[in-house]
Amino acid sequence: MSTFQAPKGTYDLIPPDSATYLAVREALSAPLRNSGYGYIETPGFEDVALFARGVGESTDIVSKEMYAFETKGGDKLALRPEGTASVLRAALEANLHKGGNLPVKLWYSGSYYRYERPQKGRYRHFSQVGAEAVGTEDPALDAELIILADQAYRALGLRRFRILLNSLGDKECRPVYREALQGFLRDLDLDEETRRRVEINPLRVLDDKRSEVQKQLTGAPMLRDYLCDACKAYHDEVRALLTAAGVAYEDDEKLVRGLDYYTRTTFEFVHDGLGSQSAVGGGGRYDGLSEMIGGPALPSVGWALGVDRTVLALEAEGVTLDIPATTSVYAVPLGEEARRVLFGLVTELRKAGVATDFAFGGRGLKGAMKSANRSGARYTVVAGERDLAEGNVQVKDMESGEQQAVAVGDLVAVVQGKLA
Ligand code: HAM
Repeated sequence: MSTFQAPKGTYDLIPPDSATYLAVREALSAPLRNSGYGYIETPGFEDVALFARGVGESTDIVSKEMYAFETKGGDKLALRPEGTASVLRAALEANLHKGGNLPVKLWYSGSYYRYERPQKGRYRHFSQVGAEAVGTEDPALDAELIILADQAYRALGLRRFRILLNSLGDKECRPVYREALQGFLRDLDLDEETRRRVEINPLRVLDDKRSEVQKQLTGAPMLRDYLCDACKAYHDEVRALLTAAGVAYEDDEKLVRGLDYYTRTTFEFVHDGLGSQSAVGGGGRYDGLSEMIGGPALPSVGWALGVDRTVLALEAEGVTLDIPATTSVYAVPLGEEARRVLFGLVTELRKAGVATDFAFGGRGLKGAMKSANRSGARYTVVAGERDLAEGNVQVKDMESGEQQAVAVGDLVAVVQGKLA
């Protein structure tokens, strides 16, 4: 056993399970690639101030969970805890918003880091597929993103998820509500930390999972009653578009989300088989973020779907993805001469686009055939001295067990024909 282990709150993706992760990433991003979103990749770390300003000083993500560090050169950086601030930073830096082609639609996939208390579904290193549509205020864009995430989950075979939807208002109506809520919360019997939260981020208190807090929240002023006419009309349009698209959602007035940049539309995808870490994805509109990080006004909307939790959701529903074997042909040489000839044929097959593997290490027939089986290859190519003396190799169909002699020079064409 190695003396080293993966750091606390992390885990390794190893075959064969890693194939499921790749397939999930692929499936979550497929609807985006089909809808005009271009791929973007940003660094794994950024200036720590980008997240402090963008995600918000008062959020848990920034105040407790960020991997922040100072480099030898004195730069203050942080491993990215989320993707939205980075993607917007990159879009602004590259002037993508000035191309006269709004919205700028981008998708991404990668690793994110939060120093959280690890538990099932909550890791310190996790993986997201995300989408951001930058520079346009249009309820159809909010609806598009929710519809695409719904499609992605359904294409994977997930059914037991729900979409929670809310509007957080804008810079006109939310401050009025915030004050009313603070007035209500200040009169409650709350612990020290929650009292502090009332002052810096009162909406988060609505999200408190503890029953002793929830009990006291009956009768709290609700944002719905404070939304301005523009926010109300916007939200009604998003809801109407979702309904017209046949996407079911639940209005959840208490959905606040853990990042400060949201305005208007917010949503979360929750899965009912996951216990406490039930959010498989989430997002919303962030009309003020660009200005918060020094850019022009660029109303935007996006989401991020958690790859780790989506895999857990598949397990919870008993869905196994149909992942085709990666190897089509497995070559088993018997003896030194055959080794050289078959190794050459393996290279030719690969060049011809046939996924091929080889029994390395001079193993006996029995062990090599076991590996051939395990590889999932449809055909095994076996050759010994006698076959080669006749200019042949044996091609064995691993499903039917039938075996056929094929001339060395014909192998590539014959295998291609069989696989076609
Ligand atoms: P978020 O809700 O913080 O949003 O994260 C999105 C998803 O990432 C969660 O629903 C969850 O599936 C997954 N996730 C988050 N933290 C962890 C963790 N510690 N372990 C495992 N999975 C986790 C954002 O990150 C926003 N940037 C989404 C967004 C994009 N909003 C607008 N655009």
